[in-house]
Amino acid sequence: MSKRLPFADQMSLPLIAAPMFLVSFPDLVAEICKNGVAGTFPSLNARTAEDFESWLQRLNTELPEYAAANPEIKVAPYGVNLIVHKSNMRLAEDQALVKQYQSPFVITSVGHPGDVVADVHSYGGKVYHDVINMRHAQKAIEAGVDGLILVCSGAGGHAGLMNPFTFIPQIREIFDGTIILSGTLSNGGALHALEALGADMGYMGTRFIATKEAQVHQGYKDMIVSSGSKDIVYTDKVSGIKGNFMVDSLTQAGIEIEGISEAKPNFDPETKHAQKDEKKAWKEVWSAGQGVGEIKDLPTVAELVERLKKEYTAARAL
Ligand SMILES: Cc1cc2nc3c(=O)[nH]c(=O)nc-3n(C[C@H](O)[C@H](O)[C@H](O)COP(=O)(O)O)c2cc1C
Repeated sequence: MSKRLPFADQMSLPLIAAPMFLVSFPDLVAEICKNGVAGTFPSLNARTAEDFESWLQRLNTELPEYAAANPEIKVAPYGVNLIVHKSNMRLAEDQALVKQYQSPFVITSVGHPGDVVADVHSYGGKVYHDVINMRHAQKAIEAGVDGLILVCSGAGGHAGLMNPFTFIPQIREIFDGTIILSGTLSNGGALHALEALGADMGYMGTRFIATKEAQVHQGYKDMIVSSGSKDIVYTDKVSGIKGNFMVDSLTQAGIEIEGISEAKPNFDPETKHAQKDEKKAWKEVWSAGQGVGEIKDLPTVAELVERLKKEYTAARAL
């Protein structure tokens, strides 16, 4: 694994399971970490700051205890996703909790990493920032982040349009930190491919929704398995920011994409959880990346990680 991976000795694969709104809850995150893959979650998945604090307490206790009881196993660190958009009224509170509980790493998205970097560095944590273009990357580098997450075309959730074959080398030319590739990764061979291009780690979202442990509607998982890449629509009409959604979930909710009025980006925890939004983004309009075309089953997290390890090892041996 790459020398730029600060947690390499705790990981069984160069892989982060991406934070996903209404998907990444503590049970899934803990299970992923226990299998040597870094698990993450958006702080806003917790309805209140008190809930968020209890999740941090749980992970800070459960993961070290599991590692101590199973010294032969690699237990990966967990990371917290802070949405740094101005509509997130809980940012300051959640940021203070991250600092208090010293989360091993933080992922900042939808905005500028700002003073999160100094807070997380004060206790030795790492900050990785989501970017979709060179301009955002440059600003994040200037802010002192440890790594960049390149959210490429076809990714689940809010996604960019860059192709990784040129995005990774262009970023590597200007940045010596950790490069993490996001978007459509579904098999272990892809983790070797991204290393060949100059990145250090992969970031998988959709693949982890289609696991036994993900606490989402069974219909969501089944739709991922039955969908192909052609069934993914890239639009800003659902959440106000360009992202990828499964067409069948729009049809199921009785929504025609042409008929949707403009949406505004909204990361206010109150309204996001209350689902006052007419389009019911995330809850009923299900997001997934183009990688759905490769996803054919619903394994346990342990089974999935085992398979990814085999594929990664086989690709490296070629
Ligand atoms: C349902 C869903 C919810 C997401 N929510 C968030 C989020 O709250 N914060 C964030 O930074 N990224 C979010 N993402 C994006 C992922 O972190 C990641 O970039 C993406 O899933 C990677 O692409 P893939 O799904 O094709 O693997 C979400 C993605 C999905 C599919």
